[in-house]
Amino acid sequence: MSQTISARRAAGVVLAALVALPAGSLLFQSKGADATPPVRMTKAEDHQRTMEALHITELRKGKAGRDKSDPNFANYDESKANPFPNLPDPLTLKNGKKVSTPADWWNKRRPEIVEDFDREVYGRVPKNVPSVKWDVVSTTNGKLGDVDIITKQLVGVVDNSMDPDIEVKIALSLTTPAHAAGPVPVIMQYGGVGGFGGTQNATSGPPYGPNAFNAPLAGRGPAPAFGPSGGRGLAAFAGFGASGRGGRGPAGPTWQNQVLARGWGYASLNPTSIQADNGAGLTLGIIGLCNKGQPRKADDWGALRAWAWGASRAIDYFETDKAVDAKHIAIEGHSRYGKAAIVALAYEPRMWTAYVSSSGEGGAKLHRRNWGEIIENVAGVDEYHWMAGNFLKYAGPLGWNDLPVDSHELVAMIAPRPVFLSAGNGGYDVEPGGDSWVDAKGTFLAGVGAGPVYRLLGKKDLGTTEFPKIETLLATGDIAFRQHSSGHTDVPNWPYFLDFASRHM
Ligand code: GCU
Repeated sequence: MSQTISARRAAGVVLAALVALPAGSLLFQSKGADATPPVRMTKAEDHQRTMEALHITELRKGKAGRDKSDPNFANYDESKANPFPNLPDPLTLKNGKKVSTPADWWNKRRPEIVEDFDREVYGRVPKNVPSVKWDVVSTTNGKLGDVDIITKQLVGVVDNSMDPDIEVKIALSLTTPAHAAGPVPVIMQYGGVGGFGGTQNATSGPPYGPNAFNAPLAGRGPAPAFGPSGGRGLAAFAGFGASGRGGRGPAGPTWQNQVLARGWGYASLNPTSIQADNGAGLTLGIIGLCNKGQPRKADDWGALRAWAWGASRAIDYFETDKAVDAKHIAIEGHSRYGKAAIVALAYEPRMWTAYVSSSGEGGAKLHRRNWGEIIENVAGVDEYHWMAGNFLKYAGPLGWNDLPVDSHELVAMIAPRPVFLSAGNGGYDVEPGGDSWVDAKGTFLAGVGAGPVYRLLGKKDLGTTEFPKIETLLATGDIAFRQHSSGHTDVPNWPYFLDFASRHM
């Protein structure tokens, strides 16, 4: 690995020398484009490289999610769940002064929080991200249920002149009702990836499978490795396929049917067409392109922010499409894409709202909670690519309480806009397909912790600080929460989310 890197460095020196040649020279015409191939590492190699760059010799282990006999089995005992009950105060500046006006929130405190999330948690979007050109690949008329629809398949081609070896083509589909009286709100789901992200895919949904528009990336990358290090791998999700995960959920119209019934449209954005879902892909995709195929710096963006960036580019397109009311674009994601959905909403002010389903650690769940999955799981080799390299520090040598921010402040970044937080019931200790791992209560507490910021901005908080009984909808304010009883799925809360969204137009 280090050989590849130093070979590239040497090549860089040669390239720099070539740039000094007269402008007419053939070689000069690469215009600074990087002609050397991207560095290739396995996720283990890049994880190790990240640790070395941070001078970390050892990380604490993630929790085991399924095997009760494992000494490292996840905690599901509420009396041990809050080792650090005092969260950072979203309304106290780093200099100790209290924030008591919206102006101070917007101009002073929110930027501090954003900077901390950028540097330590999700990483920074580089300044040099190239532009995206959206092409409508096809437009087809169809029907879903009894609604006439128009579906556009789009590809967002990223300008890769800085490193032509790395192609990024964002796959997006958009379906709108054919007879809409005007521009319609659009609910966009992170989807199009087999088994992950698509919940109930309507038959007329995106025809492409994983990586359909992503051949160059897929071709060069190793197979994506899903699954946490804690022994709860993809198998745990068997049966949570594209046609409605958590078979115990209520049978009924698909979410797309529900969206159309409101006269709205829906979209599907393929995350792995933006950035691969594994550490080996970090020198490719949009992250790799911005680094010209070199490994990440410690505060570079991870996959969650890359996926969120992709959602922002989709909004760029929607703003040009007359069928779409671009002021009302919502994002939905489940599990790892629930994390991406909350990050997308927090960072993109043009986004209307989000349905954040079972987002867990790295998403809405408080990092300081000891329940189910923890920081150490996400810092492990299978998941660290979601986050900034710096995030690894909090799994050793630092601890959870050293994080300058926590997830209630991610929710606060969304304020004053509406957001719907969701999780399911059940634990992997008791039943396969359960959702205790993602920590419904830790998610609820993040919503509670954002309350003061919503109130400061003249909005309503969750309405209670008491964790509600399962299936109790909290949606009287601008932060909504509901824990459903169907395990690791987003199906049951769709109607509640859509209703909440429609009340916040
Ligand atoms: C694992 C991981 C979660 C993640 C989930 C998924 O369970 O621990 O953080 O949300 O995979 O995305 O499927």
